[in-house]
Amino acid sequence: MIYLDNAATSFPKPEEVYRAVDKCLREYSANPGRSGHRMALRAGREIYETRELICKLFNIENPMQIIFTYNATDSLNLAIKGLLKRGDHVITSSMEHNSLIRPIKALEEIGVENTIVQCKEEGLIRVNELRSSIKDNTKLIALSHASNVAGTLMPIKAIGKIARAKNILLLLDAAQTAGVYRIDVKKMNIDLLAVPGHKGLMGPQGTGILYLRKGIELRHIKEGGTGSKSESLLQPEIIPDRYESGTPNTPGIVGLGAGIKFILDTGIDKIREHEEELTAYMLKKLKEIDKVKVYGIKNAKQQASVISINIGDLDSSEVSYILDKAFDIAVRSGLHCAPLAHKTLGTFEQGTVRFSMGYFNKKEDIDNAINAIKRICEEMD
Ligand SMILES: Cc1ncc(COP(=O)(O)O)c(C=O)c1O
Repeated sequence: MIYLDNAATSFPKPEEVYRAVDKCLREYSANPGRSGHRMALRAGREIYETRELICKLFNIENPMQIIFTYNATDSLNLAIKGLLKRGDHVITSSMEHNSLIRPIKALEEIGVENTIVQCKEEGLIRVNELRSSIKDNTKLIALSHASNVAGTLMPIKAIGKIARAKNILLLLDAAQTAGVYRIDVKKMNIDLLAVPGHKGLMGPQGTGILYLRKGIELRHIKEGGTGSKSESLLQPEIIPDRYESGTPNTPGIVGLGAGIKFILDTGIDKIREHEEELTAYMLKKLKEIDKVKVYGIKNAKQQASVISINIGDLDSSEVSYILDKAFDIAVRSGLHCAPLAHKTLGTFEQGTVRFSMGYFNKKEDIDNAINAIKRICEEMD
C-alpha cells in the first residue's frame, strides 16, 4: 500500500520505534512511579528520558513542564478547559480542527467568550483582524501551526510577539508540524504547546504531549492515582503528577522517545526539506491535470506536506474509496474534523481528498498517486 495519510497518523515508523516498544513490553513494562522494584524504576527512567528528548526538540528547559497525554485532543482539552474561566475571552481561527474548536465552544456554557477570526480563502489568518479582536478580558490565543486540511502554515512568530506584548497566553496546536518544522517555545513565545505523539514525532498511537510554561497553572480535569502523595485524598500540586493521573502508556512513551531520537539524529531540517520537495513535486504535477482543483496556498514553502484536492464534482469519499480499492493508495477524504476550515476554503459540501506525505514517502509514491488521479479523470469522460 502507498500510504499518503500521514496527517492522520504517520506510517511506517522508524525501525527503532518498533524495537523500543517491543523491548519495553518484554523487559520492563512494569508500572512506573508506583512500585520501588527495579523494573518499575527502569520504566520511570525511560519515561523521563523521553521528557528530556522532548525538551531538546522544542527548547524546553524543565522536563517536568511536559505532561504526557493520550493524543493532541487530550492535550488541547486539558490546556483549554484547565486554563479558561467564566469571563475570559479566547481568540482562535476559522482553520482549526474540532479538537481545538469544540473545547472552546463547550466553554460557552460556563461563560467563556470566544472570537473565531475568519481566515482568507487560501487558509491564511488575517493577523490584523486577530490583533483587533483582542479585548481586555482576552486570556488566550489558541491556533494551529498548520492547517490539517490545506497545510497552510500560520505566522506564529508574529502572533507570538503580539500575544506577549499584550500579556496574552499563546496555545499552539502543532499537530501538523511537530517533528518536521523547528519549534522553539522560547523564541516563538509559546506558552502552551499541544502535540500528538503519533504523527510527525513518529511515535505510537495513544501518545500526546502538553508543554506548559513554568508559572502557568491549569485546573486538573481528572483526578486519580499518581504514585505521589498517596496519603492525600486531594490531587497533588506537583507537576506533572497533577495532570498525569493513572498508569501511563509506558510502551507508547518509550516508542515516542525512539521516534524523537530518530528525528534528532536525522536532523529536522532534512525531514522538512524532503517533505517540502515531495509537496512541491506533487503540486507541480497536479497543476497539469485539468479536472483537478487544488485548495489552499499551493506553495510548498508556505504549507506543511498536506495537499487537499477535488476531481471535478466527484464526491471526495468516492475518490478515496477508488484510490484505496483500485490503486492501493491510502488517503483521507471528507471534512477532516475541520468544518470551519472547509467553509473557509469553499469545500464544505464536497469535502476534499487529502494527500499527506511523510518522511518515508518517495517520489515514486507521488508518481503513482498522480497516475491514479489521471486514470480517475479519464474514467469521468
Ligand atoms: C491540527 C490538528 N489538531 C488536532 C488534531 C487531533 O489530534 P489527535 O488525533 O492526536 O487527537 C489533529 C489530528 O489530525 C490535527 O490535525
